Amino acid sequence: MTQSSALAIVLAAGKGTRMKSDLPKVLHRIAGAPMLAHVLRAGSAAGIARACLVVGPNMEAVGEAGQAVDPALDVFVQPEQLGTADAVKAALPSLEAGQGPVLVLYGDTPLLRAETLKAVVGELDAGADLVVVGFEADDPTGYGRLLFDEEGRLAGIREEKDASTAERALTLCNSGIVAFRSGETLTTLLSRIGNDNAKGEYYLTDAVSLARADGLHARVVLSNAEEVLGVNSRAELAVAEAAMQKRLRSAAMAHGVTLIAPETVFFSYDTAIGRDVVIQPNVIIGPGVTIDDGATIKGFCHFENARIGPGATVGPFARLRPGAELAKNAHVGNFVEIKNAHVHEGAKVNHLTYIGDASVGAKANIGAGTITCNYDGFAKHRTEIGEGAFIGSNSSLVAPVKVGDGAYVGSGSVVTKDVPEDALAVSRVPQQNHEGWAGKMRARRTRDKSK
Ligand code: UD1
Ligand code: CA
Repeated sequence: MTQSSALAIVLAAGKGTRMKSDLPKVLHRIAGAPMLAHVLRAGSAAGIARACLVVGPNMEAVGEAGQAVDPALDVFVQPEQLGTADAVKAALPSLEAGQGPVLVLYGDTPLLRAETLKAVVGELDAGADLVVVGFEADDPTGYGRLLFDEEGRLAGIREEKDASTAERALTLCNSGIVAFRSGETLTTLLSRIGNDNAKGEYYLTDAVSLARADGLHARVVLSNAEEVLGVNSRAELAVAEAAMQKRLRSAAMAHGVTLIAPETVFFSYDTAIGRDVVIQPNVIIGPGVTIDDGATIKGFCHFENARIGPGATVGPFARLRPGAELAKNAHVGNFVEIKNAHVHEGAKVNHLTYIGDASVGAKANIGAGTITCNYDGFAKHRTEIGEGAFIGSNSSLVAPVKVGDGAYVGSGSVVTKDVPEDALAVSRVPQQNHEGWAGKMRARRTRDKSK
């Protein structure tokens, strides 16, 4: 039998009231991406071809965030939160004729790994009709417990509120991830799930005992508890963030990055980082950052949407904002901010400087305290600094303006006109020396004071 490709149904209709937030729960970020995006990425990394999403009313933003990751994502609205089986029902229009495996995932489990989903699909391929991802809980309170028959086969799932004392003592729990061999398996089981239980909800977990009653094979894939952590509160959000950062740090180090104090460096889900990069303590890397081979990042830097070329040196205390691109061997030093600007090969911007909407030519040297005045209160303008140019300390370059290749700008200048190649621009009040003035002044003041 040929089956269509696998489908993931991601549930995210829950209100997430315990987050105490105006933002829908699954849009809270872990390592710079909404929790939902992590789940969708795990699904596609596991080779699950299609995904759809179930949201509650007035959650357009959730659908949009999902479609930002997967433009083909179907979004369904579950009008009332009547339970996980009811939520899955809302997504049934996504099933194709001859639908193959269907995996039900939760949008609030950002640590889920593709490997676990692959193992689930593997079990289905090996003949299981239904697969549940289970985990050993230190504290099983609140979770559905996995029940096994005398042969040790998965027989059902008991929700906490419906469980006997003996069942509550069980610690092997349902993660929430349930997979079905085919669309047909899912729809047949779903149509028979009722709401005659302690919560009066339609429990997707009832599918297990119904499947067994039909003589179908139900299996368990085990994961660790961390991976299926569902985030319900800000405290759990912080736990998930810490776990994700640990993974990202380990991955970076395994890839050949030196982290002197790994627990103080924060990555984003998409940080791309080369070999032999050294990152000193206390660095925050926001989304969209690439750091090429051999770059050195000194302490206390903050980056987002920026590229750091091979062998470049950045920091300490440097900030790279969106559109900052440092070429090979560029130097960006302490208290420097760069935004929407290219710093070309070997150029140096070493101290106390703002470079915005600009290009800095190869081997140019930008003196301490240089400011590109890019904003006039209405619009942004560009500054172009040529190759090998030298900008003296404490200069203001009032954009739009160009400093030609090899030109010099005298310290303390306010440059408002283009500077030709190899010229010297000085725009400051010429210095006057008044011989003997200080000595006379001191004598007069001393005399006045002693009167
Ligand atoms: C569910 C499982 C439980 C499992 C636990 C793991 C059921 C009946 N129970 O319980 O066995 O141990 O997850 O965390 O499935 N949702 C909707 N619409 C609804 C209800 C829920 O979209 O009507 C979504 C929620 O947004 C959430 C997920 O489904 O992402 C789980 O819902 P929740 O109410 O948290 O289920 P639990 O009671 O925790
Ligand atoms: Ca839950």
